[in-house]
Amino acid sequence: MTFGKTILCIGAGYVGGPTMAMIAAKCPHCRVTVVDINPERIAAWNSDDLPIYEPGLDELVRTTRNRNLFFSTDIERGIRENDIIFVSVNTPTKSFGLGAGMAADLQYWEKTARQILEFSKSSKIVIEKSTLPVKTALAMERILNCRDNGICFDVLSNPEFLAEGTAVRDLEHPDRILIGSRDTDSGLKARQTLVDIYANWVPRQRIITSGIWSSELSKLVSNAFLAQRISSINAISALCEKTEADVTEVSRAIGMDTRIGPKFLNASIGFGGSCFKKDILNLVYLCRYYGLEEVAHYWENVVKINDYQQERFIRNMMGAMFNTLAGKGICLWGFAFKANTGDTRESPAIFIARRLLEERAEVVISDPKALKNARSDLSGVEGRVRYVEDPVAAAEGCHAIALLTEWHLYHELDFQKIFESMAQPAFIFDGRNILDHKRCFDIGFNVYPVGKPPLRHF
Ligand code: UDX
Ligand code: ADP
Repeated sequence: MTFGKTILCIGAGYVGGPTMAMIAAKCPHCRVTVVDINPERIAAWNSDDLPIYEPGLDELVRTTRNRNLFFSTDIERGIRENDIIFVSVNTPTKSFGLGAGMAADLQYWEKTARQILEFSKSSKIVIEKSTLPVKTALAMERILNCRDNGICFDVLSNPEFLAEGTAVRDLEHPDRILIGSRDTDSGLKARQTLVDIYANWVPRQRIITSGIWSSELSKLVSNAFLAQRISSINAISALCEKTEADVTEVSRAIGMDTRIGPKFLNASIGFGGSCFKKDILNLVYLCRYYGLEEVAHYWENVVKINDYQQERFIRNMMGAMFNTLAGKGICLWGFAFKANTGDTRESPAIFIARRLLEERAEVVISDPKALKNARSDLSGVEGRVRYVEDPVAAAEGCHAIALLTEWHLYHELDFQKIFESMAQPAFIFDGRNILDHKRCFDIGFNVYPVGKPPLRHF
């Protein structure tokens, strides 16, 4: 079969894999290849056991793989044979040198740009998918255009806004697709090529275009605004606990103001995930770089409140359980940073588990999809920790349950049976406010939600 367009994606991660599977599904006339330096990842994408869990992804990959979607480790060939190249490699926060703990580590990204330059035998469109600091495209252009051999590269910014757990739905019905380009003839032509790909399934009015720097910045700002809402409501949850107000009632009341809106107002143990913290720190670094200390300080506090919320959760547990956790069994329900994913990157559960172990608690971790990642996150951490997939078995003999991820299955458990199997007095700390607190209390639990008065038997 001959294909109309040939598309490559470098980086087969949480973004690259699902995004390319959707493009392949919606554009049967395009051939889509995904390459990665990690051979195990590629082998997993080619197997029945995909490297990431995402509802609907198995089916999407099953219908497209080896039809017009291919996974490979041959990066050189991929670059040579494809005209449109998405770059979706990881850009973690730098852990060393200048900007450590703040700036993005661009080593993988720069290596990729150099590989594109080395292996290209014809002109290409190069699309930034990874989240990058503003002006990265400029650096990419500088690397890519430094030879005078008639081969040209147009760099576009096309940030991904999908959320894990709903990636397939978000990709199929995105709120918007953003494409940033240079305002030159070839930049605008490249932009149109990408618009045409998305127009195969996304309504035209949802495909928006902008200058390249606005596009890069919009990704950081979008995540900063979402995270800011969570830190705002979490800050208010602390005040609710002091004043006997109920944060869910406050969220409902303010969210009905159409100017505020109801989404992302759930108080919790704090936000996790690979994007929010990294992108805000990136924004903070950028502001400091440009001498905007007040602006940097403003956004930095979104991350500080998030850290505070996690520590507050531990302190509330300590306070409720007579100021000692040593030797007590604490069962964690959920380790993923949110429901419907096995991803644990920046999950508040990592911090909470570590803190509990520091307090010498005996921790039992339960999660339907994230136990493999949890083991690796806690490898080398001292203390007594067990991993038990079944949440009922995990809670047996424990003094407390801390619910950390809002998995639906936790609604449907037999709480009477769980209560009877636990050490007394038994506690539930609902870090997501999803359980029926009154019912748990009536069974005999001491219940501690976030941002609401506790229900105690003493
Ligand atoms: C986020 C953005 O939503 C997405 O657009 C971007 O492309 C990547 O980053 P993701 O990290 O997958 O997506 O998850 P998201 O649904 O945004 O949740 C992030 C964190 O916030 C989770 O830990 C979640 O549990 C928490 N959260 C979310 C709350 O604590 N309260 C809320 O009301 C909403
Ligand atoms: P994201 O959540 O942004 O998709 P991931 O960490 O899940 O991030 O995925 C990034 C992928 O990029 C990883 O599978 C990693 O192996 C891959 N990668 C990093 N550097 C390169 C490179 N130079 N060439 C190809 N793949 C790369």
